[in-house]
Amino acid sequence: MKVLILYSSKTGFSKRYAQWLAESLNCQAIPFKERKSVNGHDYEKIILFGGLYAGQMSGLKWLKSKLPALSGKRLAAVAVGCAPADGPDLSESMTKLLGDTPEIKGFYCQGGLDYEHMGAVDRAMMAALRAALKSKPDKAEMLAGISQSFDGTKREYLDPVIQWAREP
Ligand SMILES: Cc1cc2nc3c(=O)[nH]c(=O)nc-3n(C[C@H](O)[C@H](O)[C@H](O)COP(=O)(O)O)c2cc1C
Repeated sequence: MKVLILYSSKTGFSKRYAQWLAESLNCQAIPFKERKSVNGHDYEKIILFGGLYAGQMSGLKWLKSKLPALSGKRLAAVAVGCAPADGPDLSESMTKLLGDTPEIKGFYCQGGLDYEHMGAVDRAMMAALRAALKSKPDKAEMLAGISQSFDGTKREYLDPVIQWAREP
């Protein structure tokens, strides 16, 4: 089984999942920036991990653009966001991300928030989101969830991805 794991990660959560998966599958996890150093044709399966930013998954546009060249390979995209995996909007968000590309299997793993290592623009966007949520009483739980840094990663969230990767 030849598996290529790529990750596009701003604050390290997608990177951690990619590295955990690489350990479990005994292969390498390569940063998205270095994707040109590998040839997708050498692999049977390609798994991309990417942070979710305003509903968009980092790196996914690129993977979709490569679909014609990668036809016949098994492809998966693992979105890593701060929302819990059992949140009400998750299934809709995943459909928005991957509904148009059934050839890419979609997964979600909860990451976290790391305000300390976030860029200034992202930090400002999160501040704007918190300000907007303050006036919405029904969003109090979401506001509490994003008010400070947290780490929601769990190795077991990768179990479905490992299972998929081990299928022929
Ligand atoms: C500007 C901004 C927008 C975000 N948008 C989403 C989102 O739409 N859904 C979500 O679940 N998480 C969202 N997040 C949280 C990140 O997806 C989360 O921190 C993730 O773990 C980052 O992964 P990374 O460190 O690998 O990039 C957002 C974070 C920032 C800073």
